[in-house]
Amino acid sequence: MAGASPHSRGVALIGCGSAQAEQVISNDQLGLRVETSDEWIRTRTGIGSRRVSSPQESLTDLATKAGNSALEMAGWSADTLDLVLLATSTPDDLFGSAPRVQAALGASHAVAFDLTAACSGFLFALVTASQYLRTGAMRRVLVIGADQLSRFVDWDDRRSCVLFGDGAGALALEASDGDGLHGFLLHSDGTRGGVLNLPALDTAAPLAGQAKHRQGGYRPIAMNGQEVYKFAVREVPAILQSLLDQCDIGPNEIDWLLLHQANQRILDAVADRFSIPHEKVLSNLAHYGNTSAATIPLVLDEAVRDGRIRRGHLLASSGFGAGLSWGAALLRWQGPA
Ligand code: ACO
Repeated sequence: MAGASPHSRGVALIGCGSAQAEQVISNDQLGLRVETSDEWIRTRTGIGSRRVSSPQESLTDLATKAGNSALEMAGWSADTLDLVLLATSTPDDLFGSAPRVQAALGASHAVAFDLTAACSGFLFALVTASQYLRTGAMRRVLVIGADQLSRFVDWDDRRSCVLFGDGAGALALEASDGDGLHGFLLHSDGTRGGVLNLPALDTAAPLAGQAKHRQGGYRPIAMNGQEVYKFAVREVPAILQSLLDQCDIGPNEIDWLLLHQANQRILDAVADRFSIPHEKVLSNLAHYGNTSAATIPLVLDEAVRDGRIRRGHLLASSGFGAGLSWGAALLRWQGPA
């Protein structure tokens, strides 16, 4: 799926925010649980520590904190929002956590719903929200990416538990005459979905008489790391190249690569493919690991607040992950200078 009608309205990226889970878990601490080392994890992934929610900290708490912070940067009152779109694979409530976030924010006029696309979730949600703005159906939306994969990680599986962390990030978007979303491409391929799953239980439980029902609940995350790695280093450069071609923009015009934070080696491989200096690749893997739908807005928020991303900068973004799903967007930051 690609593009936008040339007659549609623009979308402005006005504010961002983020929230970190309470506990900092270092690589050495993980070494107390599984046979691993700080050296192995840093060399293979670039991760030094990750944040893990305490039992008292909910997904809704993280998402609300990130959302409030984005509203503050945008200078918006919550009751001016038309939509709260929550990208998450780990809601507090399977019926949806976005309405709870809407209530906690005080966004009394906004419709609120969840969107699930794993690590591509934030990018898919950003594009989805922008369609409401382009058509004129809505004026202000808040897109939040939040995940607590710690609830579903197998903490005894050293091949996957070292990768993930919890967090949330948010972006405030407004309908505008100028356009901060130059183009996008989105892809899904369910035929390859078996390499990364958080599957529902398939065990049978007695119902009444001979009848049985399928037991609710989930198995822990199951991942074929090498296949996911190969998928990412093949598809992310390819989709970014297609998007740059579509928008007639050269790699040298990009101010920042804003990629899903899965593995430093993946980030470096994408940068090398486009001969983009590594200093232009936003990365906070060292401190947070892979926070799934939260990584892109989290690293964006850090770079905006510390002054690296400035008004007018062009960001080439790509999200990728389970599904399999992947997407890319060319964005221009229009928030506070
Ligand atoms: N500590 C120490 N040794 C380990 C660890 C660990 N944490 N994990 C695996 N090993 C061992 C393996 O057992 C293996 O040992 P063996 O050769 O004796 O069998 C050896 O290290 C090499 O294992 P590989 O799996 O080949 O390691 P690889 O270099 O592929 O790195 C990694 C693994 C880091 C997982 C890499 O494949 C990767 O990053 N893949 C992408 C994963 C990813 O990004 N997933 C999220 C996608 S986004 C989303 O939607 C959630």
